[in-house]
Amino acid sequence: MKKMHVGPAKNCRKTVIVQGDKSISHRAIIMGSMAHGTTVVTNFLEAEDTLNTIKVYRALGVKIEKIKDKYYVYGRGAGSLRQSHETLDVGNSGTNIRLTTGVLAAKNFTSIITGDSQIVKRPMTRVMEPLALMGAKFESNQGKAPIIIHGGTLKGIDYKMPMASAQVKSAVLLAALGARGKTVIKEPVVSRDHTERMLEYFGAPITRSKGIITIKPGKEMKAKPVFVPGDISSAAYFIIAGLMMKNSIIKVRNVGLNPTRTGLIEVMKKMGGRIRVTGLKNKNNEPVGDIIAVTSKLKGITIGGAMIPKLIDEIPVIAVAAAFATGRTIIRDAKELRYKETDRIETIIKNLKRIGIKVDEAPDGMVIYGNNGSPFKYADIDSFSDHRIAMAFSVAALSGENGLLIKDVECVNTSFPDFFDIMKKISVK
Ligand code: S3P
Repeated sequence: MKKMHVGPAKNCRKTVIVQGDKSISHRAIIMGSMAHGTTVVTNFLEAEDTLNTIKVYRALGVKIEKIKDKYYVYGRGAGSLRQSHETLDVGNSGTNIRLTTGVLAAKNFTSIITGDSQIVKRPMTRVMEPLALMGAKFESNQGKAPIIIHGGTLKGIDYKMPMASAQVKSAVLLAALGARGKTVIKEPVVSRDHTERMLEYFGAPITRSKGIITIKPGKEMKAKPVFVPGDISSAAYFIIAGLMMKNSIIKVRNVGLNPTRTGLIEVMKKMGGRIRVTGLKNKNNEPVGDIIAVTSKLKGITIGGAMIPKLIDEIPVIAVAAAFATGRTIIRDAKELRYKETDRIETIIKNLKRIGIKVDEAPDGMVIYGNNGSPFKYADIDSFSDHRIAMAFSVAALSGENGLLIKDVECVNTSFPDFFDIMKKISVK
């Protein structure tokens, strides 16, 4: 496992482009595989998670190829997926395992799906429960992967979700496409809606009204070209670097600005961040634009409630900004952080303490006592092989007294292989 000394930097200045959105890249492969026709995907995220999704759908009989810089998914309808005689391996991806479990629950064959050492510790009952209500049968390791999926013809359900989770919602929606009767889903709080948007774009029988999603099966999806916008979860690291560092200005171009994902912008503005969005346009049913962030005096705030799902993956780097701010930041209603690649409440707190920050732990979040813009103490940071922890603390390293030593940096390849190249580009020493 590789260690890397990151930072410090004097300031951050650059216009950058981040790689394609991870959630949308997964969905382009999955829904492209279920649609009729060829889905041409531009700006597909070439990272471990999404490349594993391509492997899984190839194993299910779908032809997917890369020609020049585009991916071609030759879909032949949802009915064309074939049983894989090998175990399907999602690597580190929660989105792939949960969405694909939904897809395969509706197939008349048995599949086995699993992933790496982090995946086999993450809860899967949340997808198996609603899919079992629809008629699928499962065997698992006490609610965790490996999962044996005994799929079949499912029936539609009325499902009130117990938690806000786009992965669970998407698994049920994808299973519902081939079910008998309609499926109605209600979320307690709105989570990212990329699946709904792509289903609409591909002409699937979906309707949405006042937070209720309905699928009436019958109409098949038709392939359409997909441009994957830049990932706001990847842009977040540079935006926060631009806000935190002196004399800095960062522009990130062509970023996905789906309102179910832009909690970072809302919250950083509330903390005093000077952020602007320009050039807003629509690309295949997803808003896209440029984000500009300049040096700001940040102050602590309370983050909770319906805001949490809109920034769940950005909390590690928001916590770093909070540690640098003036005053206290309270993060609450974020228990879902405990079920990510690592228990992120624990892994954020452990590392903030190492760089000299006072933090109190809560079951559903934390209280961070900002250091009023002082440089962070030099320390070894353990990423715990969690890509978002490694990247968030690399941003902290920019404003460290002497940078930070980040352990196990290869994990950034999960979602953002270019991360350290862009970090080097934006950092003025
Ligand atoms: C994702 C949904 C989110 C997010 C994850 C990706 C998706 O998880 O944290 O990184 O692509 O659907 P939830 O299922 O908890 O919403």
